[in-house]
Amino acid sequence: VEQLVNHDDSQPPMVWYWIPFIGSMITFGIQPMTFMRKNRAKYGDYFTFLMFGKRMTVCLGVEGNSFVFNAKHSHVNAEDAYNHLTKPVFGAEVVYDVPNHVLMEQKKMGKIALTNENFKKYIPMIIEETNLYIKEHLTKDSDTIDIFKAVSELIIMTASRTLMGPEIRAQLFTGVAELYTTLDASFTPIHFLFEWLPLPSYYNCETAHNELNKIFGKIINDRRAQTDKKYDDMLNVFMTYVYKDGNKLTDLQVTNLMIAFLMAGQHTSSATTTWSLLNLSNNHDLIDQLYAQMKDVMGDDLPYPEFEDLNKMPMLQNIVKETLRTNPPIIQILRKVTKPIAIPKTNYIVPAENYLLSSPAVTQSESEYFIDPESYMPSRWETKSEFEKIDEDLGEATTDYGFGSMNSKSAKSPYLPFGAGRHRCIGEQFAHIQVQTILFTLIKHFDFTLDEKRGMPKPDYNSMVILPEAPCILKYTRRNKL
Ligand code: HEM
Repeated sequence: VEQLVNHDDSQPPMVWYWIPFIGSMITFGIQPMTFMRKNRAKYGDYFTFLMFGKRMTVCLGVEGNSFVFNAKHSHVNAEDAYNHLTKPVFGAEVVYDVPNHVLMEQKKMGKIALTNENFKKYIPMIIEETNLYIKEHLTKDSDTIDIFKAVSELIIMTASRTLMGPEIRAQLFTGVAELYTTLDASFTPIHFLFEWLPLPSYYNCETAHNELNKIFGKIINDRRAQTDKKYDDMLNVFMTYVYKDGNKLTDLQVTNLMIAFLMAGQHTSSATTTWSLLNLSNNHDLIDQLYAQMKDVMGDDLPYPEFEDLNKMPMLQNIVKETLRTNPPIIQILRKVTKPIAIPKTNYIVPAENYLLSSPAVTQSESEYFIDPESYMPSRWETKSEFEKIDEDLGEATTDYGFGSMNSKSAKSPYLPFGAGRHRCIGEQFAHIQVQTILFTLIKHFDFTLDEKRGMPKPDYNSMVILPEAPCILKYTRRNKL
């Protein structure tokens, strides 16, 4: 009755709930995609639901995506939505713990290390790290493997080696990887919901963070002492960059940015590589086709690719693109409303204190934009779709936030696995190169099949990044010895 009495037509409709305060937390938490689709059918593209006292206004469809991604910073922001979740993990003075214009500069710094020139140098490093892993862990000619666990280790090794430099990569053997895992454990929806509850994971996180600060602080000091060596990594950019106001980054900011950027890519790229291998194993013909294309392009003895070679094997890129369509790692983009904001082309006004939630994952799985959307078909990316052409046309008109061409995509695209607008991902090209190079190296040496008894794992919605349900087992059979 209270819900009926309080209904206000100027606001998006409220999803019906039985338990006050908790609201729709359980139905949304267990199956968020089903929850969003069902309520969209009932209420339309915009509706609000209650989740542990927080009012979440869901904005769906291409218009909903665009509204959230392009909403004015004076009315809506990401820092109030995410900082309490990310600060224990990333630390202070970076990303959402600084004013938005500082984040824009910090992203710009990150982009400086993410150039084609650097990618050319990174690819051999990624191959070397993958081969080291194979030598150590995939020793049999045929066996089973927890592919998510393996890939997570590969992602941390390759990202640390390329972006953070040799010293941090070397330290991964001495426990830094475990410290990252401890930080990671704090990155869960429970921490989003229970903002101020002193959960034990927060304390573990703080201890791990302090430990990393000490290790990185020493690495930074050692680098400062060497004047003869040149580095092409992100650490070097953070250590030498001068903000617009003339200040350099403090050691704490350098360390925390390194942690933040590594964390931003860790689960997202691990999930993408794992889902790619699972989808390929589930559609085994695709592995044969990919292997054939790799041989066609590189030759029968399959030398490892260089930067330019990756573009000659479109299947690699299309597999990653299709995986990000069917299994996008991030399905909820959040913002907090700070001033009431009108939703264009509707009569709705979203009040301050509500959260906005956009989910490009919904448009990515719609038949309006993708033929047979449930099927995993990398070949759909062989020809440019209508919306990709529209994106290109709109590219010139979008705002440049100062961190490069990554903003050229329109927020009205139905395909936005890397987001859009001022918070758009800066790691898209790096992630593509990293995942494609790892896939090439693994497929060169092994054939993969699904474990028949377990089948294809389902998505696990218990974490902020959508991973396959554990354990995630694949069978591997060696083709080419190292
Ligand atoms: C932002 C996805 C890899 C760094 C984002 C956003 C998405 C995303 C959806 C937008 C978040 C929002 O609007 O709230 C992904 C996916 C990845 C990936 C799917 C891998 C497949 C990476 C990597 C890095 C990175 C490798 C770093 C090297 C960032 C940064 C932001 C971001 C710095 C900006 C956050 C902001 O401005 O609020 N990413 N990401 N990401 N990502 Fe990624």
